[in-house]
Amino acid sequence: MDMSTSPQTDPSPANSSGEDRRGLVKGLLAAAIGGFVALFPFFPGLLVLTSPLRKNRKTGGQMIRITTLGALAGSDSPRRFQVIAGRRDAWNKFSPEPIAGVYLAPQGEGNPPRAFSVTCPHLGCAVDYNGDTGEYQCPCHTSAFAADGQTLYGPSPRGLDELAVEIRGEDEVWIDYKRFEVGKSKQIEIPS
Ligand code: FES
Repeated sequence: MDMSTSPQTDPSPANSSGEDRRGLVKGLLAAAIGGFVALFPFFPGLLVLTSPLRKNRKTGGQMIRITTLGALAGSDSPRRFQVIAGRRDAWNKFSPEPIAGVYLAPQGEGNPPRAFSVTCPHLGCAVDYNGDTGEYQCPCHTSAFAADGQTLYGPSPRGLDELAVEIRGEDEVWIDYKRFEVGKSKQIEIPS
C-alpha cells in the first residue's frame, strides 16, 4: 500500500477564519471602490452647489445710483432716499429692492451732496432729520447728530456713517454703499 500522501489542506478552524477575514476585507474594498465610482459623476454638481458657501465674502462698497442733482435743487435740507439694489444670498439672486436708506445733504450749488447712512451707529435704528433743530435724531435712545454727522449727545459710540458720493454724467448722484457694525466706536465694514 502506497503510504505517500498528497498535500493536505489544513481544515483547522484558525485557517478557515483567516480566509473569512480576507474575504470580508476584499468585499469591503470592492464596495468602497464601487461607491466612489458611483458618486464620481456627481462631484462637479456638488462643487457647483456648494461654491457660494466656499466663496469669500468681500468688503468694499457697491456703487448705487440714488437720484439726480436736479431732484435735490431748491432746498438746503437733507433729504432721505431709499438705497435700491439687487441682492443675492448663497444660491439666489433677487430683483432690485430697497435695502437701506441714506440722507443726501446739499452742500451748495456746484458741490456734490454729502451722504449719511440713516442707520444709527448705536444699535441700528433709523435716524430722522429734524428741520427745526437741524439735527439727525434717533428715536430709540435719543442720540442726536449734527449736520456734519458728528455725535451731539446720546449713547451712539460714533457719528453717522458717511458714504462717498460720486456724480456721474450730467447730474446723477451715486453713492459708494457700505454697511458698518453698530455699537462700535470705529467703523468696521460688514462684508457683503
Ligand atoms: S439705536 Fe440710536 S440711540 Fe440707540
